[in-house]
Amino acid sequence: MNQLFLSPEHVLQGGYFHATLRKLQEPNVSIEPHNIMYPVFLLENDDAVQPVASMPNVSRYGINQLIPVLTDLVNKGLRSILIFGIVTNLPKDASGTNADSPDNPVIRALPKLRAALPSLLIACDVCLCPYTSHGHCGLLTPNGAIDHAASVRRIAEVALSYAKAGAQIVAPSDMMDNRIKAIKDALVSCKLQNQVAVLSYSCKFASSMYGPFRDTMKSSPMEGDRKCYQLPPGSSGLAARAAARDVAEGADFLMVKPGLPYLDIVRQTKDQFPQHPLFIYQVSGEYSMICKSGDKKEVETVLMETLTCMRRAGADCIITYFAPLILSLISDEQKQ
Ligand code: PBG
Ligand code: ZN
Repeated sequence: MNQLFLSPEHVLQGGYFHATLRKLQEPNVSIEPHNIMYPVFLLENDDAVQPVASMPNVSRYGINQLIPVLTDLVNKGLRSILIFGIVTNLPKDASGTNADSPDNPVIRALPKLRAALPSLLIACDVCLCPYTSHGHCGLLTPNGAIDHAASVRRIAEVALSYAKAGAQIVAPSDMMDNRIKAIKDALVSCKLQNQVAVLSYSCKFASSMYGPFRDTMKSSPMEGDRKCYQLPPGSSGLAARAAARDVAEGADFLMVKPGLPYLDIVRQTKDQFPQHPLFIYQVSGEYSMICKSGDKKEVETVLMETLTCMRRAGADCIITYFAPLILSLISDEQKQ
């Protein structure tokens, strides 16, 4: 009788009953330190430390506080960071002057970070929203529309300033069309094109999951929203066209942001450009959701499952506020 139900060629469980067999069934999904990038918030007051109210276990640091924190993490395996500058005392104006003024915290910190942590790969987010009085990611015309050409010029100028100060990756998050070419041209004009990579936030959606971040950065638009430059969440077509455009303009790396609700876009982008390393930004709203997913153990397992699925969908590197926790989890795993 039993034979009626047994169809050996359709029995799969024999292929994954053992932990080592399961590893073989999950190719390319391992989480190693180079698959993780840690976003850090840098304050203009060099000695300050401020916990972020909306994000448990996340703080904003002045450079003198950040270096010891990062040194400890580098000793635990951290390979790369993504820096966001925050200004509260320096004035904000229409053209985002302080995005790359000599007083800008990122410009001041880069030489110190490079000297203190020579093995750490340092990416800088490039955007105007933390520094503009209107809080938009580009510059505006007198009637309040995005001034496209002026925005691209200014973004490229800021990217070049970070590159000159020591950034090894510049990562424009503004979503202005054609900024990748402008940045690459600027790097070439200063002979930095072979020492600085461009990580494009190529497929960045107008998501409602950036709330805790905007709170932290004080970078919300004063008026309006970002729907005229960030992509509409339902559009896989625009995501494909934006990725293709950025590749044609010379982007070294692509990104999908946010991550979890957009894994179809991750797969689409990886299939479209298998030769380009692909990043996911696991954004602040995703971080908050996972933090609320249960007790400590549940948070850890939900997190690791999420990262595995991001890797399966095609991500090569995940930008995540969980980086310190992930490093400790994967080093525990290796000890087992
Ligand atoms: C701004 C920027 C945002 C994030 C990274 N860079 C917010 C936005 O575009 O509105 C979001 C990151 C996060 O939510 O963790 N250019
Ligand atoms: Zn911005």
